[in-house]
Amino acid sequence: MTNGLENVVAAETVLSDVDGQAGRLIIRGRSLDELAGRASFEDVVALLLEGFVDGLPADLPAALGRARAEVFAEVSALDAGLLARSPIEAMRALLARLADDEDAATALRLIAAPAVFTAAVVRAQAGHAPMAPDPALSHAADVLRMLRGAPASEPEARALDAYLVTVCDHGLNASTFAARAVASTRAGLTSAVLAGLGALKGPLHGGAPGPIIGMLDEIGAPENARPWIEAQLDQGERLMGFGHRVYKVRDPRADALKAAVRQLGARHGRLEFAEAVEAAALAVLKDRKPDRALQTNVEFYTALLLEALAFPPDAFTCVFAMGRVAGWIAHAREQALGGRLIRPQSVYVGPRPRRAA
Ligand code: ACO
Repeated sequence: MTNGLENVVAAETVLSDVDGQAGRLIIRGRSLDELAGRASFEDVVALLLEGFVDGLPADLPAALGRARAEVFAEVSALDAGLLARSPIEAMRALLARLADDEDAATALRLIAAPAVFTAAVVRAQAGHAPMAPDPALSHAADVLRMLRGAPASEPEARALDAYLVTVCDHGLNASTFAARAVASTRAGLTSAVLAGLGALKGPLHGGAPGPIIGMLDEIGAPENARPWIEAQLDQGERLMGFGHRVYKVRDPRADALKAAVRQLGARHGRLEFAEAVEAAALAVLKDRKPDRALQTNVEFYTALLLEALAFPPDAFTCVFAMGRVAGWIAHAREQALGGRLIRPQSVYVGPRPRRAA
């Protein structure tokens, strides 16, 4: 009996393929190397949705800009109760206000929503008024502007764009599976995205990068890395940013993101320090689990990149959702158009009722 559906094939897809042995990711026939740093987030949204969402506008960047402006109206629903929650919980609540349809306008609003709502929540939590979107900007540049209240530099917008492209889709990960299961009931795109968001939030999936900053801050200096890591593992804790269900070699997205951090010029010495912690972690994991191929996953350098872009660590998972929402929607539509209801079986191992005397 497999616990975790390891190696179970639950869908056929033309959207993405993860080769865990070779460390390769393909998105609709293109390799990640071909896309990251070359295609924009808007390009990969078009690539993923083509053929799955009817009536996609030809000028997708402009349509996504308009969608950002439309969903901004929901920000007025932010109240003290929501602002007391974590950014992902507040963002999820705003997203749940969107209508549950399947058309192109709904798809674009859902892609716009995590970006607009996250920026508004982070600003409001810091005591600033939310900023309305500028539909003329690229998605990445507008996210940073809405977050900070001032335009971001060109390299910063490029770095965020590269991140959103890098995480836009990744096979049948837990959140995409959750989105597909909901879509298979024909519930609608907003419900599917909410399912994806719920699954993404957990620390074993998209919730890992925030705590990585906590780990780096606690370690403080390279010479503390090994003892700190040993102590964590002694307590039965897992190291965030390491290990993956599918990749048995280094996650190719880790290096794409590391390159983006380097180009951005992270805080002096921060990247070198993180590399020292990574090397110590890999060495300890190899000693402790020689039969498991535990490698660096996407989240380790995600944390460094989003820190360099001045996102607060408790909003890192929201930024992941800004990119992955494109994949959730494409998968939800692929499932709704061609798939059957997802309804696996369970094996009952509990007690049987007593036979009546
Ligand atoms: N730190 C310490 N030990 C680990 C780690 C880790 N990061 N990852 C796996 N292990 C250990 C497990 O304890 C287990 O040991 P055991 O065989 O003695 O019980 C063994 O390695 C195998 O782990 P599994 O639980 O079988 O791996 P699984 O495929 O279920 O989990 C996961 C993958 C959840 C990513 C895991 O590696 C983990 O918890 N990593 C830390 C959290 C993290 O970085 N999450 C982000 C993942 S990337 C993403 O979702 C975008």
